[in-house]
Amino acid sequence: MKQIHTIPALRAFRKQASHPIAFVPTMGALHIGHAALLDHARKLVGNRGTVIVSIFVNPTQFGPNEDYLKYPRTPDEDLALCRQHHADAAFLPDVASIYEPDASTYVEETSLSAGFCGASRPGHFRGVATVVVKLFNLIQPDFAIFGEKDWQQLTIIRRVVRDLFLPIRIEAVPTVREPDGLACSSRNRYLSPSERAAAPAIYKALSETAALAANGETSTAILRNHLLNLLNAIPNASTDYAEIADEQTLQVPDHILRPARALVAVRFPSARLIDNFPILPPQSHSRHSSP
Ligand code: PAJ
Repeated sequence: MKQIHTIPALRAFRKQASHPIAFVPTMGALHIGHAALLDHARKLVGNRGTVIVSIFVNPTQFGPNEDYLKYPRTPDEDLALCRQHHADAAFLPDVASIYEPDASTYVEETSLSAGFCGASRPGHFRGVATVVVKLFNLIQPDFAIFGEKDWQQLTIIRRVVRDLFLPIRIEAVPTVREPDGLACSSRNRYLSPSERAAAPAIYKALSETAALAANGETSTAILRNHLLNLLNAIPNASTDYAEIADEQTLQVPDHILRPARALVAVRFPSARLIDNFPILPPQSHSRHSSP
């Protein structure tokens, strides 16, 4: 696996890389969720195609009081995981090569970004969309792979790609979870032992809410209340948001008539965790097995 640190080296690699090219953007501190994205990338392009992973903690998606400086950086372990999962190249640029000191161009999606994490983290999705489009322009992949774990991010990236006519197919990979249901996340390592013990209750709350919908409840208000009550009972945690939204438009309907997602953010003293889960209208349950 090639390690690439500069843009000229990336361009040179890109020029001779065999197609199709699949790209997996990450911020490092890689775990089995990221590994699933790399495996999906490899499956898409086969042994003759090229898988490129980026590892870049993107400063513009962190708010001034967020964890940019303490975000875990584990490059050696990350490179080992990328190698094990058959990436062809890992791109690890420094901040100065992605952002010129006087950079003044940003990509902003203005509708899907408004609520949920966009409301609690102003500017976050502008930073995400900007860095992802920069990386897309540098790598020019045929496919880019994102996790369902960050559902709002996924819908925003699909919208940006559509609106800006980017010739890239976005592929989504289902959320990878720990055996107790907690969604794998680079930020899980911030959790204290007691927070870690409490955190699987997020998944339980989501799956119980999905079960209520599976049993015929379609009122978003009732489903949301149920979810909120369960989340509010988690010791030492506060609910940042808990909503049930259309899976594509992220609008909150009165009733579940189309596939929806329960979207939550829960704040523990040591970390803010997000998760989401499908909430299907009654007629779909026979066709979909729950994840
Ligand atoms: P990061 O949090 O490192 O996540 C990189 C990719 O891995 C994202 O597409 C995310 O959804 C996916 N991922 C994380 N945890 C996952 C899990 N448990 N199961 C499945 N996929 C998972 O998301 C970012 O970085 C950044 O915002 C980025 C897109 C790289 C832009 O900086």
